[in-house]
Formats: sequence, structure tokens, C-alpha cells
Amino acid sequence: MNTQGLPDYLESLAPDGDTAYQRIQNSLRNHEMPLISVPPEVGRLLTLLVRVSGAQRILEVGALGGFSGYCLLRGTIPDNGTAVRMHTVTSGTEVTGQVTGHLTSLELNPDFAAVAQTNLRHLGYGEQVTYEIGPATESMKRLMAEGQRFDFVFIDADKGNYPAYLDLAAQLTHPGGLVVADNVLRGGRVWDLGDTAPSTAALRAFNEQLMRDPRLEAIIVPSGDGVAIARRR
Ligand code: DHB
Ligand code: MG
Repeated sequence: MNTQGLPDYLESLAPDGDTAYQRIQNSLRNHEMPLISVPPEVGRLLTLLVRVSGAQRILEVGALGGFSGYCLLRGTIPDNGTAVRMHTVTSGTEVTGQVTGHLTSLELNPDFAAVAQTNLRHLGYGEQVTYEIGPATESMKRLMAEGQRFDFVFIDADKGNYPAYLDLAAQLTHPGGLVVADNVLRGGRVWDLGDTAPSTAALRAFNEQLMRDPRLEAIIVPSGDGVAIARRR
């Protein structure tokens, strides 16, 4: 399948687009941060996965500007038909309800965490998120030692540590919970055997570990840059 133009096509099908995405992209530009948020269609996938799994306690590895965190928390709004208008955004209104879940967001860069926190506050989710600054493997080991466990872990950070993040995520996730990761196909580089970049090798190792780990029931979906979805047995 020729996927050129696919992201634009998928966006054209979304009735109102994603105003939060545009807001957060603008804030990334204003702060000269990399424009590497998950694309809107992956954001909708995250929201749907949280919603169908009923996850409430969520961990993300890598905050950047807060877009994935926003999409994950958006999925915790109870689907009870009582959604209310909570906030107005720059282009149109976004209908939401009360977010009931909690997000623990791990971020190495304190400046990124501050931007993400401001963005989530402006989107009405400021009370639902806790940022933990520092190397995520250390934060995850501390969460383990504290006995904290999650219904959903989303991995979207430095690629070299993906194999370590996967092992820690499997340990931190309740049975029946989900471990999800972004960028697992790396624009096709993972199956280009001529690509010897360390980050590509790390993603190859991650994907092999993902599919062989007896704790996980996993698939890879070619949405965005490739999304791994695994259920903790
Ligand atoms: C990069 C990282 C990401 O998480 C992503 O979605 C796209 C690109 C990067 O480091 O280049
Ligand atoms: Mg990513």
C-alpha cells in the first residue's frame, strides 16, 4: 500500500479535526521544541484504547508538550451520556466531560514537563496529571518499589531505552492492562536490514521482545509511525 498522503486523508475524515493538537503544536513551535507529538490519528487510537479498556491509572514515558497525555486522559471520561462543554479552544468548541482518571507522566527535560503541564491545565486536565522529572528507567524502578501499578502504560520517549522501558512497563501493569508504544516501525527502517542506526536496532530488539514476552499478548498496528499494543496477561 502506498501510504503517501494517508495522514492527511485520515485527518480529512475527522469531523472537527483536533483543536488540542493544533494548540499543542503551536506551543511546541513557540518553545522551539521538536514537532514530534503523536499524530492526531494515533491520539484518537490512544483515547479509544483507554476508553475500551476502562483504564483509569495511566503512566506515560515521555511527555513532550502533553498531546499524548491529553489523549490518554480524554479516554477516561465516563461514557454516561452526561458530557458537558468544559472549555472553548481557539477554533471551535470541544465537548468533554469530567476526566476521572489520573496520569503519571515521566519526562527527562523539566522545561518540556513545564510546557506539557501548562498545556494540560489550559485544556482543563491540570488536576489529573503528575509529572516526574528524570531518567524514566529510574522513575519506573521507583514506582515499582513504591508498589504503584497501572492499568495502561504508554511508551514514547528516547528510542535506545525502549527495550528497558518495555520490561519495566510489563512489571508495572496490572493483569489485563495495556502496554502501548509509539514509533515501533520507525518509518520502515526496522525492516531495512541496511539500516544500522542504534535507534533502529533498539526498536528491532523492542519488537522482538514484545512479540516473544510470555507476559504479553501483542500486535503492531501500522498507524502513524507504528503503534505496538500489548495486553498484560
Ligand atoms: C522522534 C521521536 C518520536 O517519539 C516520534 O514520534 C518521532 C520522532 C525522534 O526522536 O526523532
Ligand atoms: Mg513518538
